[in-house]
Amino acid sequence: MTFKTIEIERHGRAALIRLNRPEALNALNSELIAELDSALSDFESDPEIGCVVLTGSEKAFAAGADIKEMRDKNFAEALLENFLGRWDTVARARKPIIAAVSGFALGGGCELAMMCDFILASESAQFGQPEIKLGVMPGAGGTQRLTRAVGKAKAMDLCLTGRMMDAQEAERAGLVARVLPAAELLPEAIKTSQRIAAMSAPAVLSVKEAVNRAFETSLAEGVRFERRAFHALFATHDQKEGMAAFIEKRPPQFQNR
Ligand code: CAA
Repeated sequence: MTFKTIEIERHGRAALIRLNRPEALNALNSELIAELDSALSDFESDPEIGCVVLTGSEKAFAAGADIKEMRDKNFAEALLENFLGRWDTVARARKPIIAAVSGFALGGGCELAMMCDFILASESAQFGQPEIKLGVMPGAGGTQRLTRAVGKAKAMDLCLTGRMMDAQEAERAGLVARVLPAAELLPEAIKTSQRIAAMSAPAVLSVKEAVNRAFETSLAEGVRFERRAFHALFATHDQKEGMAAFIEKRPPQFQNR
């Protein structure tokens, strides 16, 4: 399938989705979100793909929802069309998604990166929720995911002032997993994605589900959920293979079953 606002590549079992609206710093308009939804849904159902990287350009991961597209919306339209509702595909994906962020990740761009499972950032990355400067507020999870990632003080600071936070600050605050030199960002993100995709898929999906459960439930419930998921993995071929390979001092041959 060919897309207009995104590009896709396959690197073995890792898929790459590159946001590609350079004229608008990858502002997220409805066409781009529909294409992202479509590409991601394809990768979700493709057994050959184990992990996805979502990236933008060196200048911008994404500079937010498309302001030109939304400026004339009224309340009823936004409500009835469930404006921004379709973005949830990224947050609902079962396979891991790594955000590889260079340049601006602002507003919806920051929110999109936070919907991914973790963020690798280049030294040039800038994160922010500047919606307040437009007379509105974050609408795709910014006030919620940012607060969970960096805590109330910094989330309030960013959302109320609209200031940007650089990659180092974002890493210190826990928003970003690793900061890399710009030239290494994409190769490292793809390598990381391939590394995850080479693991046993049932274990990968279970880890993702269990870590995400930590945000939705109490500690006791979360630990109970983790224990059941852990027990369930003893029903897989890959548990036998992974442990046998360790004991026999050889690489495992996972079969995703
Ligand atoms: N929507 C639409 N177009 C955008 C855009 C956006 N979010 N961000 C940038 N663009 C466009 C600019 O209008 C400009 O287009 P023209 O050449 O046609 O004028 C082009 O991209 C390049 O942008 P700039 O000239 O502004 O580039 P710059 O390097 O001087 O500044 C920037 C870069 C600081 C990121 C600035 O573009 C900016 O502040 N962008 C808007 C950021 C923003 O407010 N994002 C939040 C959007 S609301 C939202 O996302 C709601 C939500 O929760 C989902």
